[in-house]
Amino acid sequence: MKTYRIACIPGDGIGQEVVPAGQDVLQALAASQSNYRFEFTAFDWGGDYYRRHGVMMPADGLDQLRGQDAILFGSAGDPHIPDHITLWGLRLKICQGFDQYANVRPTRILPGIDAPLKRCGPGDLDWVIVRENSEGEYAGVGGRVHQGHAIEVATDVSMMTRAGVQRIMRFAFALARSRPRKLLTVVTKSNAQRHAMVMWDEIALEVAHEFADVRWDKELVDACTARMVNRPATLDTLVATNLHADILSDLAAALAGSLGIAPTGNIDPERRFPSMFEPIHGSAFDIMGQGLANPIGTFWSCVMLLEHIGEPAAAAMLMAAIEAVTADPALHTRDLGGNARTSDVTQAVCEHVTATAERRRAA
Ligand code: IPM
Ligand code: MG
Repeated sequence: MKTYRIACIPGDGIGQEVVPAGQDVLQALAASQSNYRFEFTAFDWGGDYYRRHGVMMPADGLDQLRGQDAILFGSAGDPHIPDHITLWGLRLKICQGFDQYANVRPTRILPGIDAPLKRCGPGDLDWVIVRENSEGEYAGVGGRVHQGHAIEVATDVSMMTRAGVQRIMRFAFALARSRPRKLLTVVTKSNAQRHAMVMWDEIALEVAHEFADVRWDKELVDACTARMVNRPATLDTLVATNLHADILSDLAAALAGSLGIAPTGNIDPERRFPSMFEPIHGSAFDIMGQGLANPIGTFWSCVMLLEHIGEPAAAAMLMAAIEAVTADPALHTRDLGGNARTSDVTQAVCEHVTATAERRRAA
């Protein structure tokens, strides 16, 4: 029997509710099969850890994670700690430390979900946003001088490297190729940003030659927001810089009905390090500890985790369970306009998984 080692980092706020829920559904999947099991290791890193130790994670944190097959992450963010500390001290430390340069964000309108787009038929919104996850606007390059004086200056410099752009373009073209429509939109802003974004466009064109069977187009990021709303069916796979994709993926999640549903994978495509999977939503301190969080974003992230570690059948089984559950309005959490609790949704997904496995065994 194969054992997958999964590091669980609930982090802050509702992360502490949705990550255990994710473990429950992974456990239900493993219990219904006989060929693999999960070994979970929990890490209590985040805001409370920071209050005790002055850091979000220990100095050897990456070493503790190195041998794991994947990481299931909740969220980082604390009302009493500045956001740039929680972010750079934990999530970005892992993303950048493990060179998880491809951030993958699929979006679809799941069954039963009321999404805001009027002009959107079934299947019209089926996107994957590929976010450059290692450099660009999040490179962390910049500084402040003359702090507090009238002549104070501050910079955040976006860094793009040829190697960094090449590898994310290759990843995005390959992902587009693996999807039925083989269609990629390269998001840019080279009309205004005339250095790095022009290089971005040039490299897209070069890499496109390696993927002659993928249709592709270029869209300016501002125009892309309008296209997402007005012509969703013209998009399939998108690739964008770190910040552009950050913004577009929130729009995508909202257009698909709720930020509570959307998943993310922070992927090291070369598999030198563990990849990390997390719901797109934040720590949501306003509802924490009340059992109201929507765990679907975490469950869908578990689907991506299962695909990544090489269990596509389990991934498909979990996705089917998620869709069966979202189809039932009685199982909608508050973000979807319902009254269901985190535990109701979790139990329903686990039961669906178990029932499917039993039915298959009986057949
Ligand atoms: C995301 C989030 C983060 C980001 C925040 C928490 C800094 O919005 O994963 O999209 O901007 O990367
Ligand atoms: Mg974001």
